[in-house]
Amino acid sequence: MPPITHLECSRCHQTVSAASPQTLCPACAGSFYVRYNLSPLKGISHRDAIARDAAASPWPGMWRYRSVLPDVAPVTLGEGWTPMLRSKRFPNVYVKEEGANPTGSFKARGLALAVTMARHYGLRKLAVPSAGNAAGALAAYAAAAGIEANIFMPKDVPFANYVEALMYGANVTLVDGLISDCGRIVAERKEKEGWFDISTLKEPFRIEGKKTMGYELVEQLGWVYPAAVFYPTGGGVGLIGMWKAFLELEELGWIRPGQRPKMIAVQSAGCAPVVRAFDLGEKASQMWPDAATFAAGLRVPKPYGDYIMLDILKESGGLALAFSDAQILSSLRDWARNEGIFLSPEGATATVAYEHLLHTGFLKPQDTVVLFNTGSGLKYTDVTAEAASIHRPG
Ligand SMILES: Cc1ncc(COP(=O)(O)O)c(C=O)c1O
Ligand SMILES: [Zn+2]
Repeated sequence: MPPITHLECSRCHQTVSAASPQTLCPACAGSFYVRYNLSPLKGISHRDAIARDAAASPWPGMWRYRSVLPDVAPVTLGEGWTPMLRSKRFPNVYVKEEGANPTGSFKARGLALAVTMARHYGLRKLAVPSAGNAAGALAAYAAAAGIEANIFMPKDVPFANYVEALMYGANVTLVDGLISDCGRIVAERKEKEGWFDISTLKEPFRIEGKKTMGYELVEQLGWVYPAAVFYPTGGGVGLIGMWKAFLELEELGWIRPGQRPKMIAVQSAGCAPVVRAFDLGEKASQMWPDAATFAAGLRVPKPYGDYIMLDILKESGGLALAFSDAQILSSLRDWARNEGIFLSPEGATATVAYEHLLHTGFLKPQDTVVLFNTGSGLKYTDVTAEAASIHRPG
């Protein structure tokens, strides 16, 4: 396994040691990337060892990629290695079913790794602002690790997120506001309370967990890139993590060099700061006022890593697109009825976007694409029922 050589700032490239816990770059407050010495792992034979070693490993799921992850015993609940469901109607479309993760969303990957490292560093109290699913995931992994979790989330999060966080024994505060307000509270209180802030992109290891999605989709396609990856975008950790995975795969020589996937960031029209910045050609986003959408995970009015995402979208030849809640709900219903896949509202932004880009000709039916269903539709029965006007009879 490769030792971590250092952490590198995504903005000014300053490096620091990973021997002690780190948050943001001390020079510019940019997010850190974890860097390894990958040289000993170069070549196809190391890649081909992954499947063989996974069969004998005590740690299933995303830990099949432990050769490119920190060399630390994991806190795991079986996250990762989720199904790639081939669409019945679009033969070159795969739905990456992240609802199959523990806690029913892809947040499990990032928080499994962040809590693994928190335990490694001996941190005892973690805090997170969350749109919902990160809260549930942190609560679960903190419980598994025996670490305290302090969670701040909007008071109108999907009910499942509230219940799961309480059941896992986290300290939960419901906030009359958005994730940005929750983030402010964590920032104000963390020093006095002795909390380590495990917010999106404010510590280096959630990206590392999420990068496994990039390794995984490439391996599941036979170690080739798809033409495009559709990512329901809030804070953007998955998009950033997958792009990092693609760069590492190339450095490792584990993938044939070729066109990297076009990265398609999808948001709700009720909160689309990345789309607006992309359309205006700006380097960073502006705070989105009055963010509102039933795709709760996408209610991130000003993502911290916007500058990284915007760079990636441009470099990949991708796009940023937003659709209305009515379009999202209609696609959610369509995929449930016609494919048997109950998407989260966030996941349904990706299906709307795919069909839109097929229609505009940006993508051809023969292009292989991966659409991320970032969470299970079952975590959203209250918000989806409300959006669809479904009421219990009587
Ligand atoms: C189901 C779901 N999809 C997408 C997102 C957005 O994820 P990211 O912050 O990595 O962009 C979230 C975030 O809460 C989520 O819960
Ligand atoms: Zn920096």
